Amino acid sequence: MKTFWQEQLKNWPIIALAPMDWYTDSAYRQITKKINPNVYCFTEFFSADWLVHSKFLADSVLPHHPSEKPLIVQIFGKDPEMFVQAAKIIEKYDVAWIDINMWCPAKKVINSWHGSGLIINSDTAFEIVRRLSEATHLPISVKTRLGWNWSESLIEFCKWLEKAGANLITVHGRTTKQAYTGLADFTQIYELKKALKIPVICNWDIKNIADWMSKLKDLDGFMIWRQSFWNPWAFSMDWYIPTLWEILSMMEEHASLLIETKWVRKWTLDIRKHLVQYIKWFPWVSKYRKRLVQIESLESLQEIISDIRWEFSDSLDLKVEQIEENSHIVENCSL
Ligand SMILES: Cc1cc2nc3c(=O)[nH]c(=O)nc-3n(C[C@H](O)[C@H](O)[C@H](O)COP(=O)(O)O)c2cc1C
Repeated sequence: MKTFWQEQLKNWPIIALAPMDWYTDSAYRQITKKINPNVYCFTEFFSADWLVHSKFLADSVLPHHPSEKPLIVQIFGKDPEMFVQAAKIIEKYDVAWIDINMWCPAKKVINSWHGSGLIINSDTAFEIVRRLSEATHLPISVKTRLGWNWSESLIEFCKWLEKAGANLITVHGRTTKQAYTGLADFTQIYELKKALKIPVICNWDIKNIADWMSKLKDLDGFMIWRQSFWNPWAFSMDWYIPTLWEILSMMEEHASLLIETKWVRKWTLDIRKHLVQYIKWFPWVSKYRKRLVQIESLESLQEIISDIRWEFSDSLDLKVEQIEENSHIVENCSL
């Protein structure tokens, strides 16, 4: 296992696309890898129990395109035996490693001791990692938070996870009680890195890779989500700013990839939430929003895209920044 991580860390730092329910499906991951082939992609989280009981689910969500490798599958649950059985299924799909969700702060999740409920129910957390690491040849990682109410127990908790067999830890810089509120605190994550032998990667409000390279210190990598939503260029090492043409082409490509992996009703519903986001930088988005959230086919999307291309034919090759300078058609650009 040591050689596995040595190999991964040759490309320090590990830059990862965060696991996101309803978002990080195969199409989203392929788009991300097109922008930066070195990114490690995590799947959405899947219930270990459901994977065990539904061959349909496993066959729908675990197959992936070779360009997505190395792929990390995230699972959640609370019964160690279910994790063991789910690992046997996941192993068949040639994935790189298994990640355990000890992160989710949603009430219904923690009330039933799943997700970050395992921070409190720590004996079960350690047992899950121990059983899983004995049962599979795949590396095991854990995504967790600073702690439940505070971060004092972070180092002890993660040391036990390491002892139980975890091979990598990702820490989101907030507690379960904070959920998404409050400022993320990363001082404890630097301390954690000093205390563990296994790699530690961090996750919180990362907006700019260049900025974060300088703050990483000894950490082994970082994980991004929100900044990459509608903006896969967030993963480019030089923080590339796309042109309107590139954004429109990416929308089309994203839809085409979704069509390859999902049945028609599902992919049209899934793509709608991305489409408006891709062009949300532009004040004219409201003019196209209604049509975009109603698309029923690739043809209907292509029709809208060609209307936008026609209407803004003068601005297609401009970077979003330049469009802003030139014609003030960009509002609230958050780059
Ligand atoms: C809609 C949504 C879905 C998410 N789904 C998952 C998930 O399935 N598993 C997980 O570990 N984290 C999940 N997260 C948390 C993200 O992976 C990440 O930890 C969080 O957004 C903080 O990173 P950021 O500041 O870069 O956005 C989700 C977050 C959101 C907003």
